[in-house]
Amino acid sequence: MPETTSLFNKIARHYDSLNTFFSFGMDKIWRRRLAEQIRGSRLILDIATGTGEVAIETVRKLEGSKVIGIDPSAQMLELANKKCSSPELSDKIMLVEGYAENLPFENDKFDAITIAFGIRNTVSPLQSLKEMNRVLKTGGKAAILEFTIPKNTIFAPLYLFYFRKFLPFIGSLFGNKKEYKYLSDSTSEFPQREKFLELMKEAQFEPQDSIELMIGTVIIYTGIKK
Ligand SMILES: C[S@@+](CC[C@H](N)C(=O)[O-])C[C@H]1O[C@@H](n2cnc3c(N)ncnc32)[C@H](O)[C@@H]1O
Repeated sequence: MPETTSLFNKIARHYDSLNTFFSFGMDKIWRRRLAEQIRGSRLILDIATGTGEVAIETVRKLEGSKVIGIDPSAQMLELANKKCSSPELSDKIMLVEGYAENLPFENDKFDAITIAFGIRNTVSPLQSLKEMNRVLKTGGKAAILEFTIPKNTIFAPLYLFYFRKFLPFIGSLFGNKKEYKYLSDSTSEFPQREKFLELMKEAQFEPQDSIELMIGTVIIYTGIKK
């Protein structure tokens, strides 16, 4: 089991509430924006589905859509399962345990794929993008939500302080300092903007215009399978 899977198993219990706290409640709006990018899609794969927030937002926002959510963390999926067991959601969302790098689906299956705050946690982002491309129908769309370091030279240091110091500090109050430090470090180290678009091209996606949110701290990349 890769280290990130046990990490998410450890923080699963407080994940949703800390997310809302750290993002000042904006995380739900970001996920809604993500779902809007794949409007018109019917069968959708949500990779790194975690506690199921994107899957739930998607089926509520896109009428007639069905979502398969996949994630390797049993504890995150257990929470997702509880949320998705209501009659409103249970026949629209299916949850599966598995890794982005080795998706257990046939080629050309999905109309669209979403992944929120997940691609940087995979062992190989490029291999994950290639797998996404493989299971998408030709012309299907991938929408990827991730944190970025803002370009604004005044705001960037404040943001980095918040991300590198405040986040692990609050995490430590819940006994998860190491885990929240990893989450902030992995953002700084992950390929940003043009570098990430290069990876998408290498995986045979045609990138579309990226959408920057929250003063450039969050980004939605989209790409079409050629
Ligand atoms: C930060 S959470 C994001 C969860 C959810 N998408 C959201 O918006 O709240 C990252 C998720 O990525 C999952 N993950 C870690 N490694 C993965 C991999 N190799 N393939 C797929 N998911 C992975 C973790 O288990 C965790 O649930």
